[in-house]
Amino acid sequence: MPAKTSRTQARELLFGDLWEFDPAPESAPAHIDERYKLFIGGRYVTPKSKKYFDSISPRDGKKLAEIPHANAADVDAAFAAAKQAFGPWSKLPGAERGKYLFRIARLLQDRSREFAVAETLDGGKPIKESRDFDLPMAAAHFFYHAGWADKLQYAAPGRTLEPLGVIGQVIPWNFPLLMLAWKIAPALATGNTVVIKPAETTSVTALKFATILEQAGLPPGVVNIISGAGETGAAIVNHPDAAKIAFTGSTEVGKIIQRALAGTGKKLTLELGGKAANIVFDDAPLDQAVEGIVNGIFFNQGHVCCAGSRLLVQEGVEKELVARLKRRLSTLRVGDPLDKNTDIGAINSKEQLAKIKELVQSGIDEGAEIYQPSCRLPGNGFYHAPTLFSGVSQSHRIAREEIFGPVLSILSFRTPEEAIEKANNTCYGLSAGVWTDKGSKILRMASALKAGVVWANTYNKFDPSSPFGGYKESGFGREGGRHGLLDYTKLA
Ligand code: NAI
Ligand code: MG
Repeated sequence: MPAKTSRTQARELLFGDLWEFDPAPESAPAHIDERYKLFIGGRYVTPKSKKYFDSISPRDGKKLAEIPHANAADVDAAFAAAKQAFGPWSKLPGAERGKYLFRIARLLQDRSREFAVAETLDGGKPIKESRDFDLPMAAAHFFYHAGWADKLQYAAPGRTLEPLGVIGQVIPWNFPLLMLAWKIAPALATGNTVVIKPAETTSVTALKFATILEQAGLPPGVVNIISGAGETGAAIVNHPDAAKIAFTGSTEVGKIIQRALAGTGKKLTLELGGKAANIVFDDAPLDQAVEGIVNGIFFNQGHVCCAGSRLLVQEGVEKELVARLKRRLSTLRVGDPLDKNTDIGAINSKEQLAKIKELVQSGIDEGAEIYQPSCRLPGNGFYHAPTLFSGVSQSHRIAREEIFGPVLSILSFRTPEEAIEKANNTCYGLSAGVWTDKGSKILRMASALKAGVVWANTYNKFDPSSPFGGYKESGFGREGGRHGLLDYTKLA
């Protein structure tokens, strides 16, 4: 018998003698190239910059692949290809555009295991999430928008929707392939062409996606995939041929982009950070709420813009809820993201881990009470234990700043008014959760909360038909649903 880990001991104390799971690593090959090329005008091209950087696997801190670092000349070439492709693509009948999107969706399904492993290796998220969430949702976004492509006249009855032109898209590292799908599918369905840049720590699945476009026979130049860091993103944003910019990422960069585009006439949608309140009333089913809280903050290591990072709990049930939450935390498996049993994988990058640790330290320094279950973190790679802070006050940094990690700040309230006041006391407004037995309370809270999405007795539920986006510094514009389509078109 293997020596008992400290986690086993902790769980035995709580639940009696439970067995550890044996390792269950996913073994499908990810087919990752040693060195990638840019995808411009339907061809794989070496970057004019001749520069590359390493993509590191956060799972073990080792180099995974070399990624081209595109410069302004590469971005120019991508826009030229997209501009050339726009005329014929936008004139194709919607049903024909739809066929390409259906093909892409089916190819993603065919190759989902390979892409899920690649996503987990490159970004650190647990394989069960890339397999059961990222890949199926990415395919679903292509299916959904394939369906719209020949029905655009119903999206704005009595009006004609026209494409905008070439769309510049910059995406983040938390849901690399899924954010690519959120961006590309509606742009293509509405007849636009695209220049897209993945985030520098997670470029692999976007660059692999070029092979899907090739298999689907998508006309050259309709989608161009450019990798690089912030300057490459800025070159896309500031390119004169960009008719619209769609950005998902930090509020800081979102503000830079908004300033850069002011007065240019380019359309802009921004999906930025969040600090969502997950609100539990004293009449809520507590065990369900515990599952929703765990899903809300520990899904994808908390690298989620709509994460339920502030738990607001009604005073009468605070003690009981926190006790159940602590017990549940001790059963979470933290470790190798490739293991099918892992609940919390690796933190996306060394930089992000440093940011999380800095904010956790500020929580301790400012006087909040920290709780972490005993769990053994892998020696290599970037990992952080699931963390709860109780006794948090609204002025603490951990109650105000987006941590983007597996860290929950717990605050309490007495009345619904106080919950609304505290929930809305943030510069963000992307999402919120409400847990209660009473339907009327849900409706009242949903209309009082300044958040783009309000989940009731659930959390982190997504569907391509449901528009997603924020208020205040969480950005503007919507992705998904009819609203999302309208943001990629103009009314004629
Ligand atoms: P970031 O905003 O710098 O990166 C997002 C994307 O923007 C990447 O593709 C990056 O290359 C690009 N970018 C960076 N500077 C740019 C510029 N000047 N012009 C155009 N594109 C640019 O986010 P970062 O630094 O990786 O993460 C910092 C924090 O931002 C995180 O800790 C988290 O709090 C937040 N964040 C929020 C996300 C969300 O989904 N809302 C996603 C990623 C980060
Ligand atoms: Mg940055």
